[in-house]
Amino acid sequence: MKKQILVSGGAGYIGSHVTVELINAGYDVIVADNMSNCDMTCYEGVKKITGKQDIPFVEMDFCNYGVVEKLFTDYKIDAVIHFAAFKAVGESVVKPIMYYKNNLLSFLNLLEAIQKHGACNVLFSSSATVYGEVETLPVTEKSPRLPATSPYGKTKQMCEDILRDTIKAQTNIKGIALRYFNPIGAHPSALIGELPRGVPNNLVPYITQTAIGKRECLNIFGNDYPTPDGTCLRDYIDVVDLAKAHVATITRMVEGCMKEDYEVFNVGIGRPVSVLELVTTFEKVNELSLNYKYVERRMGDVPSLWADTTLANEELGWKATRTLEETLKSAWEWEKYVAQKENK
Ligand code: UD1
Repeated sequence: MKKQILVSGGAGYIGSHVTVELINAGYDVIVADNMSNCDMTCYEGVKKITGKQDIPFVEMDFCNYGVVEKLFTDYKIDAVIHFAAFKAVGESVVKPIMYYKNNLLSFLNLLEAIQKHGACNVLFSSSATVYGEVETLPVTEKSPRLPATSPYGKTKQMCEDILRDTIKAQTNIKGIALRYFNPIGAHPSALIGELPRGVPNNLVPYITQTAIGKRECLNIFGNDYPTPDGTCLRDYIDVVDLAKAHVATITRMVEGCMKEDYEVFNVGIGRPVSVLELVTTFEKVNELSLNYKYVERRMGDVPSLWADTTLANEELGWKATRTLEETLKSAWEWEKYVAQKENK
C-alpha cells in the first residue's frame, strides 16, 4: 500500500511543489490548508501537473485541536510535513503575538494529535534563520543557533526544540527539521509558484514584479558590504530542488533509514550568490533590462549567509541540480502566468 503523507500548508508556495514531487515519487498526499495566505491557484496547478484530480484537500486551521485530531481519525497518516505557519519576518516584528500563537499552537496541536494516534514521522519546515547572526561560513548543522533576530525566527527555533524534546519523550515519533536557505523560482510548467500578498519583501518576487511593471524599481539594499561586489551574499535554492529534498527526507523516515530519532539538515546549494549576480543573471536569461538602484542597507540583513550542504548530500543522497539560470527563468515564466491570469 502507498504511504500517505499529510502536507499542512500544502496549498502554499513550497507545499504545492512538495506535493507534486511526492506524488511523482509514488506517495499519496493529503493537502491541508487554512488558505490564510494563498488561493486555490497552486492546488489546481498541482492537479494539472500531476494529472491527479482526486488529491484530498482539507480546509482547516491547525490552531483548532479538534479538527487536527479528526484528520488522524479520518486518514491513516505515515508522515506529516508541517508548513502551516506565518512566514513574513518583518510582520512578525510588528505582530509577535500573532506569530507565536499561530506558529507554536499549530505545531503543538499536530504533535499532540500524533501522540494520541500512535506512530508518525514529522518533517518540520525550518529555516536558516535559526542560526541567527552567524559568525563562521559556510554554516553547518553543527554551527551554533545564535539568538534569532525576529519573532518569526524564534518560532522556528522553538518548534525545532519542541520537536526534539517530544521525540526524546515519545518513542513513537521521529522527526527531521530541514533548514532552508533562500527558496526561489517556480515549477518549470509555470502552473505553481510564489504568490506574495501585497508588496513582496523577498528579493526574487520583487524582481519579477518590477520586470512585469507592478513595481517601479528594485531597491538593492546596500552595495558597501564586505563582499566581492559590495552586495549581500545568499544561498538561493530552487524550489523544485528543495521539494525533492523533502521527498528524500520522507523516504529516509518511512523506510527507517534515520541514524537518530531527530535529525537536522541544511538545504541550500552551498554556493554564495550576490544580489547583483542574481539581478544580472535574471536580466540575461530573460533578455530584459531591470530598473534597479542602490539604496541604504536594510535593517537586520547579514552580509553573507550560505550553507554547507555536505550532510544533506551524503545522508539524504540529494543534491540541488537546477542552475540559477533555469531557476530565474522559471520565476519569470510564473510571474507572466500570474499577470495573464489577473488580466483575464
Ligand atoms: C529572509 C529570512 C529567511 C527566509 C527568507 C525567505 C531572516 C534573517 N531571513 O531571508 O528566514 O527564509 O527571507 O522568506 O529572517 N534584497 C534587496 N532588495 C529587496 C529585497 C531583498 O536588495 O527588495 C536583498 C536583501 O538585502 C538580501 C537579499 O536580497 O541581501 C535576500 O533578501 P530576502 O529575499 O528578503 O531574503 P533574506 O533576508 O536573506
